Amino acid sequence: MLNTNSITKTIENDQLDCENIESIIETTGEADGTTVEAPFWRTEKSKGRNKSKAPGKNGIDLGERGIFDKRNNLNDLTGREWTFFLNSVLIQAYPPTIRDGKSFDLRKIHPSPKPPQLMRDIISFFTKGDQWILDPFVGVGGSLIGGSICETPRHGVGIDLNGVYLDAYQQACVAENLPIESTIQGDSLEVLASNNELLNREFSMIITDPPYADMMKKKKTGQKMKFYGKSDPSPYTDDQRDLGNLEYNDFLIRFRDIMQLAVNRLAVGKYAVVFCKDLQPKPGSPNILHADIINTLSTIPGLVYRGVKIWYDQANDLFPFGYPYAYVMHQMHQYILIFRKET
Ligand SMILES: C[S@@+](CC[C@H](N)C(=O)[O-])C[C@H]1O[C@@H](n2cnc3c(N)ncnc32)[C@H](O)[C@@H]1O
Repeated sequence: MLNTNSITKTIENDQLDCENIESIIETTGEADGTTVEAPFWRTEKSKGRNKSKAPGKNGIDLGERGIFDKRNNLNDLTGREWTFFLNSVLIQAYPPTIRDGKSFDLRKIHPSPKPPQLMRDIISFFTKGDQWILDPFVGVGGSLIGGSICETPRHGVGIDLNGVYLDAYQQACVAENLPIESTIQGDSLEVLASNNELLNREFSMIITDPPYADMMKKKKTGQKMKFYGKSDPSPYTDDQRDLGNLEYNDFLIRFRDIMQLAVNRLAVGKYAVVFCKDLQPKPGSPNILHADIINTLSTIPGLVYRGVKIWYDQANDLFPFGYPYAYVMHQMHQYILIFRKET
């Protein structure tokens, strides 16, 4: 049986909707003594609200979406939608396309574009409509497009070293009839320290997906080489300021410096979300990148690590790494690291 008391208490402590908790929590209970049906909030955003319950003095009934609490100053979600997002594991094969796919040919020049709909779902939790997001490693604009396709669009500024990616983002917006958000070509370290548009703006969210250490520089071998048909490494750029060209420890230091500048532009109480994958462990180097990023960014004054969401990307293919000799990790998930600017 689910302990609703402890959940209510946690929510009370965080000053969230506690009046409507009964309408959020509905256990399905044990079916036959051996199996328990998954509660609906693990698998669906909403089953429609329990019509027998009144919305409460702070609640606004949004019909099938559930009840919106007027005190919610983080996002535009109902209690049910909020609860659905809290699952620490996200199992979804998001399409790489925006809507019907017509602009993907433009964006696929990038080796690792983020699915816009994934970005939309994360941005929808951490911001309200019309608020501003910042992405210091924007590539072909997964985050900016994600903001634009939110139910109430968000605005954004994205920075990338590579102008070709920024052009592709803009062309994709034209093709999809989306607004073109601000982009700035350059090294985020320099841009964040000197660009007036950025220095005069406060953001409600940072969402970013940095290139990690010198991973992209490595030659492809084995199954990956067969798949891509070439062994050439594929760095994003040859630029020495490209984080994808740095050794592990240098990467961590430079990434922290860039995030420090970005966090200076973030409003207090708002969130910074960082995507990453671990690197292959080696003797003497466990390469637990997500833990190293958490520890490194936690040295930024006022920034506090608040938890992780794991995205199991079901669109990925499996390769028989190591076969038939040894175990080699095939990482099918990405870490979505969540930090909050508390002071
Ligand atoms: C993993 S990709 C981001 C992809 C992006 N999320 C998307 O949806 O297209 C990382 C990006 O960081 C950029 N980059 C690397 N070092 C940079 C730096 N110092 N300043 C700005 N951009 C940088 C690369 O050019 C690359 O496009």
